[in-house]
Amino acid sequence: MNYLDTEIIKIDRKQMDIDALEKAGNILRGGGLVAFPTETVYGLGANGLDEEAARKIYEAKGRPSDNPLIIHIADLEDLDRIVEEVPEAARRLAAAYWPGPLTMIFRKSACVPYGTTGGLDTVAVRMPSDEIAREMIRRGGGYIAAPSANTSGRPSPTTAQHVYEDMDGKIPLILDGGAVEIGLESSIVDLTTGIPTILRPGYVSLEMVQEVLGRAEMDRGLISEDSSVKPKAPGMKYRHYAPKARLKIVEGPMERVISYINDRADSSKRVGIICTEETLQKYACGTIKCIGSRQDELSIASHLFAVLREFDEDGVEEIYSESFDTPQLGQAIMNRLLKAAGHQRIDVSEIEEEL
Ligand code: TXA
Ligand code: MG
Repeated sequence: MNYLDTEIIKIDRKQMDIDALEKAGNILRGGGLVAFPTETVYGLGANGLDEEAARKIYEAKGRPSDNPLIIHIADLEDLDRIVEEVPEAARRLAAAYWPGPLTMIFRKSACVPYGTTGGLDTVAVRMPSDEIAREMIRRGGGYIAAPSANTSGRPSPTTAQHVYEDMDGKIPLILDGGAVEIGLESSIVDLTTGIPTILRPGYVSLEMVQEVLGRAEMDRGLISEDSSVKPKAPGMKYRHYAPKARLKIVEGPMERVISYINDRADSSKRVGIICTEETLQKYACGTIKCIGSRQDELSIASHLFAVLREFDEDGVEEIYSESFDTPQLGQAIMNRLLKAAGHQRIDVSEIEEEL
């Protein structure tokens, strides 16, 4: 369905507009779509127990129908209805990180339609911490299927404006809660196989999962250099977040990374650069965007998608980014950057230095 006007309503978390939340709840209970903020990225919500409502999400995003949706709940007691069983490991992870940026995979119960799970017998569930999200979920019937609210393939939205860019005319309502806190999608942990496995890295790192469960591992499909090892989360196989210009990640000793990028920026092409507060002064030409500080990984995470979107408007032809390989949130940052770059990385230490 096409809506001529997509309404945006600003909501103040300290003084929530109950009428707006009721309005969102009514749309959701009537089978419609509402975009809403979460602490990770903006979501595009529909009733997750209504196959027809879920179908509208795929249509609005242009998303392949085999890519399953996450069902969002507001209260832990709502979990039992949609899953076959709650393993002990899930209870422990929920106690540690819910509400928050963690999604867990369970065996689904009969009331969850295959139209929501992309035909799988498992279901992804998350309990977000954002108060706007939780109030909306409760009013919308308690089970809100929501992917990130971007057009499929584009960077996930971290502001209501980003959602509007992609969804204007396609959905009736966007709840605007301002810029999100984290800026990268939730970590996904699969608890349906032997060893708990991270299918998508996020704010909750592998180490944080291991701290609670003892044993956990990263999906080999995410880290293997061998491209025949496929990621387990259907959505992780798609090219994603890609800006229009070709993006390359430059790795190696920082001084050489900077000089490599400066050489490229000096060419006749219009070049974009993703750098940090620590290196900003060292770049001379090109469209230079500082993404945050290396001392504060969250600053980098929360700006990444916005910066990728901005480059589309700036019309650059090539983008070079510094690398952010670090153990915790850096896993998630690099995972998204590499996807955006179609895994194009340049290791400057492998390039012969010119004499
Ligand atoms: O932070 C987030 O998780 C955001 C906000 C809105 O909550 N949502 C989000 O949803 O990122 P989406 O649809 O963009 O990503 C969901 C990912 C996809 O990679 C999908 O393949 C995977 O979760 N997924 C969903 N259900 C699954 C299942 N049953 N088994 C394996 N992977 C699943
Ligand atoms: Mg997404």
